[in-house]
Amino acid sequence: MRIYQTSDYDEMSRKAADIIAAQILMKPDCVLGLATGSTPVGAYQQLSRRHAGNEVDFSQVKTVNLDEYRGILRDDINSYYYFMRNHLFNYVNIPLENTFIPDGTNPNADAECTDYEKKIAFLGGIDLQLLGLGHNGHIGFNEPDDHFPTATHCVNLTESTIEANKRFFASADNVPKQAYTMGIGTIMKAKKILLLVNGSEKAGILRKALLGPVVPQVPASILQLHSDVIVVADKDALSEIDTSDATRSYSSAS
Ligand code: GLP
Repeated sequence: MRIYQTSDYDEMSRKAADIIAAQILMKPDCVLGLATGSTPVGAYQQLSRRHAGNEVDFSQVKTVNLDEYRGILRDDINSYYYFMRNHLFNYVNIPLENTFIPDGTNPNADAECTDYEKKIAFLGGIDLQLLGLGHNGHIGFNEPDDHFPTATHCVNLTESTIEANKRFFASADNVPKQAYTMGIGTIMKAKKILLLVNGSEKAGILRKALLGPVVPQVPASILQLHSDVIVVADKDALSEIDTSDATRSYSSAS
């Protein structure tokens, strides 16, 4: 596991964009696993800017998103389908038919989740999976549990996740109570994982994820077992970790 400490959110976003752009350069038809939430927005803006400057070509890239709320319409501003168009897909030259997100409108959870796993396998698996970190340690929507769920599945969101995500909705009551999410096994099969974390409110859970025991009560702790994880986090998020051994911050050219 490599840990890059950045001074702030912007530098974290530039570093993340550097890594994603390098992945695309190395393998123009790569499969990117993408995330939603506030954390990756800056990285998506960076990638959009670099695309506008002819620095990144998404024409052969395929994407698979981690998750989607169950029961939400695709044109709902809070759907992850809408989020991805609004934050990335509308600004880069990715053919929309090469972008995949679980279909939250499919009421048949088993069929949707099985189909999504098949899609990822058909694409050849994920080359680089981008992750944010939930306040309770969730990755994708894999909530703390007594086991690590393996494949894409339907999950009941915890109160703390509903509470954390209500900022995007009119009220907590409007937050969907379920989601379809890649499983921990799906995520762990990615060849490379890029975890982004910012802000002091995530410092405690980041320490548990990176240094605590590997337990399903802290889903992100499973990343300790992956052989190719890059963590890019700002100094606030890393404030509870001794980063003297970590690769120090860098300056991005962009
Ligand atoms: C959401 C998403 C996750 C995301 C996490 C953190 O619920 N399902 O993929 O990483 O919560 O969100 P944020 O980046 O807004 O803190």
